[in-house]
Amino acid sequence: MKTIGVIGAGQMGAGIAQVAAQAGYRVLLSDVGIEQAEKGKAGIAKRLARAAEKEQISAADADAAGARIAPQGNYDAFGEAEIVIEAATEREQIKRAIFTDVGKVMSPDAILASNTSSIPITRLAQVAPDAARFMGVHFFNPVPVMKPIELIRGLATSNDTVARVEAFAQSLGKTVVHANDAPGFIVNRVLLPMLNEAIFALGEGVASVRDIDAAVSLGLNHPMGPLTLADFIGLDTCLEIARVLHEGTGDPKFRPAPLLVKYVDAGWLGRKTGRGFYDYSGPEPVPTR
Ligand code: 3HC
Repeated sequence: MKTIGVIGAGQMGAGIAQVAAQAGYRVLLSDVGIEQAEKGKAGIAKRLARAAEKEQISAADADAAGARIAPQGNYDAFGEAEIVIEAATEREQIKRAIFTDVGKVMSPDAILASNTSSIPITRLAQVAPDAARFMGVHFFNPVPVMKPIELIRGLATSNDTVARVEAFAQSLGKTVVHANDAPGFIVNRVLLPMLNEAIFALGEGVASVRDIDAAVSLGLNHPMGPLTLADFIGLDTCLEIARVLHEGTGDPKFRPAPLLVKYVDAGWLGRKTGRGFYDYSGPEPVPTR
């Protein structure tokens, strides 16, 4: 059985661990401590059990996939992984520290891939154990449902690395798209200006949270309105991506909406903190403006 490592057991890391385990990989799932990694695994077990209840997978397959996930509180076992995917917080300093630490134990032919939403791959490659075996592998949330994976090669990424990661992504049943190492790659380059503009519109009093979301989701046939989607992604992640686009291009059209900055300053980060553009403390989300 092939082993992969996933660093970060939050919504993205846990989703990646789940799809990899369902595809038959043994998954080492780490976080800042064993408790966080165990918590990530517990969430995956719940989602697998729900899929079994809905008869999308058998109960035996759900149990087997869960059993393939091994929570880790450190990187001691990561030398066994053929591919290590980092899905930690979207902050460059955090990712750099992780690459330095995990790089010390990785096998000499293993690949390190980052699920960064927007940080330049070529710059992150500086702290990878080998820039030729480093690239971007960008999954979408919720990972078990969303089809595409963006593959991003840095300046030094080898053809062999791209081919091996592409084969891995296909083995998960995903659709691979290739992007160059430009700020936001493809999807976030297109998505973030829309989310940011919806927040500008809210801040300028153009319409309420409910009306902006209803207008865009119904008017454009999107499954979620932009403010719901921003809460779903996490407002801190949205702000980080907006800043990377702004700084990376120097183009003022990407400047973050002041209201987005305020919400992040307030600690209102969306669903994960129970409040963003909606309040999630009750049975149904309630708009806050
Ligand atoms: N984890 C796993 N599965 C989930 C899930 C989650 N968090 N949330 C929903 N699902 C699954 C459900 O189990 C259900 O599966 P089934 O049809 O096989 O039973 C399916 O998704 C549909 O769920 P629901 O019927 O409960 O709800 P909806 O029909 O409202 O769909 C949604 C929920 C799939 C999240 C849909 O609203 C959607 O597609 N929203 C847009 C998501 C999106 O745009 N994601 C991209 C974000 S950008 C990004 O990730 C990049 C990053 O860098 C920022």
